[in-house]
Amino acid sequence: MSKLLYIEASPRKDRSASIEVAQSFVSAFQDADANNLVETLDLWNVVLPEFHGARINAKYRVLHGENPSTEEAIAWEEISSMVTHFKEADSYLFSLPMWNFSIPYKLKHYIDLICQPGLTWSFSPETGYQGLVTGKSATLILARGGEYSSSAEAGAMDFQKTYMEMILGFIGFQEINTILVEPTLTDPEPKEKTVASAKETAINIARQS
Ligand SMILES: Cc1cc2nc3c(=O)[nH]c(=O)nc-3n(C[C@H](O)[C@H](O)[C@H](O)COP(=O)(O)O)c2cc1C
Repeated sequence: MSKLLYIEASPRKDRSASIEVAQSFVSAFQDADANNLVETLDLWNVVLPEFHGARINAKYRVLHGENPSTEEAIAWEEISSMVTHFKEADSYLFSLPMWNFSIPYKLKHYIDLICQPGLTWSFSPETGYQGLVTGKSATLILARGGEYSSSAEAGAMDFQKTYMEMILGFIGFQEINTILVEPTLTDPEPKEKTVASAKETAINIARQS
């Protein structure tokens, strides 16, 4: 038995290439073991709390080993329970579109909430930065209108893949599988082939998860 947290970041639902591929992953994961659990976090269907001043003050209190005020402690509690929820899974699936060469703002908002000192990463002058989400795997399904893997010049504009891989590595993930779905802004036939090939890769990874 294993628990997958599926984080969905496209608002396009039945028109989304990243979600279509993710659905193949989820089905294969469920078929692999009847006891496997999947929780879907649709970032377009939840109200994410603001990461406002009191929470930022609390973050710096944690970072500097200081006691928070009552207001800061309350503000931090909501963050802390979100991170506890995030860390409960055994493996992770993220499906997301490229937006303006990077990731959709809803996913960035979620990442800004869960990337916290003492919860998902730590720092000490002796050991430097250390990720605290360890021993877990993540799969990224990255849909993009253009093609960024075809040349170094195009790849230099791809802040979707580089950011997601970097931030997950920063919080401790060592096993990250990345599936590119590109280009999606093309004729129906090549797009279908691209999506079909990504689905095949997704199914193979899910069976091993
Ligand atoms: C707001 C917005 C910004 C986008 N920016 C880019 C971009 O910078 N580069 C690109 O190749 N495609 C871009 N696209 C196209 C999407 O990445 C592409 O349609 C992708 O398939 C969307 O994923 P989805 O089908 O899972 O929603 C953008 C689309 C939208 C709606």
